[in-house]
Amino acid sequence: MRALKGKPAGGLHGELVVPGDKSISHRGIMLGAISEGITTLTHFLTSADCLSTLAAFQQLGVPIERTGTTVTVHGVGLHGLKASSKALDMGNSGTTTRLIMGLLAGQNFSSTLIGDASLSKRPMRRVSEPLAQMGAEITTTDGHLPVTISGKPLQAVNYHLKVASAQVKSALILAALQARHPSTLVEIQPTRDHTERMLRAFGGELTTAADGVTITVQPQPHLKGQAMTIPGDMSSAAFFMTAASLVPGSQVTLKDVGLNETRTGLLNILREMGGAISIQTEPTTGEPIGDLTIQPARLKPIDIGKAQIPAVIDELPLVALLAAKADGVSHISGAEELRVKETDRISAIVTEFKKLGIAIEEQPDGFIIDGRQPWHVEDPVLDAHDDHRIGMVLSIAALLVQSPLKLKGADSVRISYPEFFDDLDKLLQ
Ligand code: S3P
Repeated sequence: MRALKGKPAGGLHGELVVPGDKSISHRGIMLGAISEGITTLTHFLTSADCLSTLAAFQQLGVPIERTGTTVTVHGVGLHGLKASSKALDMGNSGTTTRLIMGLLAGQNFSSTLIGDASLSKRPMRRVSEPLAQMGAEITTTDGHLPVTISGKPLQAVNYHLKVASAQVKSALILAALQARHPSTLVEIQPTRDHTERMLRAFGGELTTAADGVTITVQPQPHLKGQAMTIPGDMSSAAFFMTAASLVPGSQVTLKDVGLNETRTGLLNILREMGGAISIQTEPTTGEPIGDLTIQPARLKPIDIGKAQIPAVIDELPLVALLAAKADGVSHISGAEELRVKETDRISAIVTEFKKLGIAIEEQPDGFIIDGRQPWHVEDPVLDAHDDHRIGMVLSIAALLVQSPLKLKGADSVRISYPEFFDDLDKLLQ
């Protein structure tokens, strides 16, 4: 059990470079592995999830070296992966699991995927069903891990996604690379587009139509290894953006944060609520990046619906926290995907926020939160529900509470942000 830091006397101060982007770090290893030549990833995220991806590809016969946050991948090409004698352990990582399913579906060997208790409860049919339409042979355990993939030659597909999910889209793109003819994927809504951007940079041929949701993938590319610097993770920066917006007297600058517009939902929401953020963008050839400076502000309530969800999906627990201090009633809806994350994040947020006396009401697809009600601690022992993002949002909430709070499962931060508590301490000094 970790004792959480409470209300700081003078706010949060200073500059921070947050660790590399989780989504991009995963994809860097995967695309590097199926390319020819060397891929160098600088500012790689060395969190448990990304290390699950790294270890899985080593097991599939890809030489990969890591020194600190620099990773070198010796690509084996699209058809150079080798069968692993043991099951591949996905740990807690949904991104590793779903993307690798797409890649392994078209290989000429079989693989078994296993994961931890949380990952083993998460839905995998959203990937296995469309892959089956491409000719893949995948056996799930009642729609969950363990999953066995018997690699088969794949056919092209014309598929309309049923959920707004970058993981499903990316799995299908990785499968489509191995088909004989071009495939078309149509999303319900645009989701993070890191796979598309990176694949183009590695020499892949895919187009996104003007509608922003129709992607055509050309098969059998010869991908070429690349050198890339991974931007800071917006989803990690988001914890300090929220803290600096809410804790009086703060001023925080977050350096080199990824500003891909499919990921900047929190930035837009915070601005709409009246947040004080200035952005200094930097010229890049790849993913957009910039420095963010955040100060506290009086926040207005907000209504968010389905259209805004994908760009803020991982930051919704933080939106709930901002709403819990806003000057009115906020409504967050269309976010039912939160129920199938590392834990049911709607239920976890409601349970834990109620311990702080926050006026939050559970909805099937979100929350209603009245920020005008003063908080009062009803239970000082908070629980991360074995979910890194719940653990971190509760640690930020503790900065707004006078009395001491404890956190069960604080170790979960290792999944996406192992240095989270150290970085928070730096800003509190
Ligand atoms: C991710 C996509 C999102 C997100 C996850 C990372 C990715 O999941 O929540 O943390 O890297 O593609 P879904 O695709 O399930 O929405």
